[in-house]
Amino acid sequence: MASILTLIYLIASITFIVGLKMLAHPARARKGNLIAAAGMAAAIAGTILLYEDDNGNGLQNHFWILGGLIIGAIAGTVAARKVKMTAMPEMVSMFNGMGGACAALISVVEFEHLMSSLHATPGLTVIESAFQSGLRTHLLIILAGLIIGSISFAGSMIAWGKLNGSIRDITFRGQHLFNIVVLLLVFLMFFYLVGWLPANGVLLFYTVLGLSLLYGVFFVMPIGGADMPVVISLLNSFTGVAAACGGFLYDNKAMLTGGILVGAAGTFLTILMCKAMNRSLLNVLIGSFGSDQKQSGGTNAHGTTYKEISLSDAAMVMNYAQKIIIVPGYGLAVAQAQHTCHELEKLLELKGVEVTYAIHPVAGRMPGHMNVLLAEADVSYDKLQEMEQANSEFPTTDVVLVLGANDVVNPAAKDDPSSPIYGMPILDVSLAKTVIVNKRSMKPGYAGIENALFFQPKTSMLFGDAKQVLQNLINELKEL
Ligand code: TAP
Repeated sequence: MASILTLIYLIASITFIVGLKMLAHPARARKGNLIAAAGMAAAIAGTILLYEDDNGNGLQNHFWILGGLIIGAIAGTVAARKVKMTAMPEMVSMFNGMGGACAALISVVEFEHLMSSLHATPGLTVIESAFQSGLRTHLLIILAGLIIGSISFAGSMIAWGKLNGSIRDITFRGQHLFNIVVLLLVFLMFFYLVGWLPANGVLLFYTVLGLSLLYGVFFVMPIGGADMPVVISLLNSFTGVAAACGGFLYDNKAMLTGGILVGAAGTFLTILMCKAMNRSLLNVLIGSFGSDQKQSGGTNAHGTTYKEISLSDAAMVMNYAQKIIIVPGYGLAVAQAQHTCHELEKLLELKGVEVTYAIHPVAGRMPGHMNVLLAEADVSYDKLQEMEQANSEFPTTDVVLVLGANDVVNPAAKDDPSSPIYGMPILDVSLAKTVIVNKRSMKPGYAGIENALFFQPKTSMLFGDAKQVLQNLINELKEL
């Protein structure tokens, strides 16, 4: 039985790796996800049916296990089917928090087991016997899983609340110092418990749990809502590491590999997101990004004016273009305009216009946001150009249509060393002959800064909700 189970775990681990690799490309992502899910299902079924402890006893509590599986499967399926594209980070956060909570609960259960198995061997104290029989390593892993899992759970719940608007940013003077003190206390108790396993171990253990939860809450609380994807990705890597601790405890290879993969993938994603925004992780975690600079009139702070374009003129310009590149941004997701956008693309192609999309790595509010959104509308993958490729195409492009994107096309990232986004790679749309920008107003985007692109002579503003504007453009184009 044990060797069959080991084989199942090995196969499951391979499916996780293959699945993760396939997630790297939109065309294979769905299949990759299914392969990894099948591996996970096999690992769960194998554990329930084939697991035996050292005394040859199988798993107990089948009723509870099946009950949990059914409730979780129903809740997960309904949530995943119902979720709106813009609420995706919120759902990921909730799921991630559940993973962290599971890892922390494993630690609570295993700590109880460890305490009940303590007994003195002749000539030694209870503690000395415990340490001699290797329980110290066990305790270390239990505590690591407890701390990391509960920080991830509490932090993810706060991130979830902030994203859906039910929790506001709460900051107070000395917050960072407070966080550092709480974390230091957690570490001190951790070392004290692992080093000495004192008589008041149970009390200390639950104090560590409480303080870790508190740290999770206060760690995420001051971070701005729009920075949440980076935080969620970081917390995701925490959950992976906490799950890997569970894998160590149970000597479960599938759990261990799965946890390590999630931990590593989350860490990479966090680093990549920070890199694409040209910000350090520390700046995301303790820096404040995005002031409330707002602009409304026809001029900017320096007296420069922007010009508007009418729907019929915009349709005309696009009708006679040979090559158009669409730059989607967060506003497209907010307006849920992906299907209308695809319709416009098809109509233009019928008229002989070459249409592609330029995708900035951090356009939108989560990794791959635009790719997922456009895939949902059946936009062909080979129409999507990555930033470098698009930048080399702009000089030979007649019209760039910017749809609800702002920071990712802001030239200040290149030209203005004092700008908070200075150094962030951008889509250099001003290299094209004409730029049409659709947004609802002159308000800034996520970074809270003005965009000089809107005031350049070759740029025209086409105000309105992206979906409505696209629909009107389609109607106008059909008349031409
Ligand atoms: P933003 O800079 O946030 O700009 C989006 C624009 O969309 C806004 O200026 C807004 O202007 C417009 N908009 C909103 N609703 C609209 C609607 N219904 N119709 C038309 N326009 C609408 O977005 P971006 O250019 O995609 O840049 C993404 C930003 O998010 C970057 O700063 C990036 O660093 C940050 N970020 C991204 C990620 C990831 S991984 N994607 C993670 C964290 C942070 P109006 O209000 O005037 O309409």
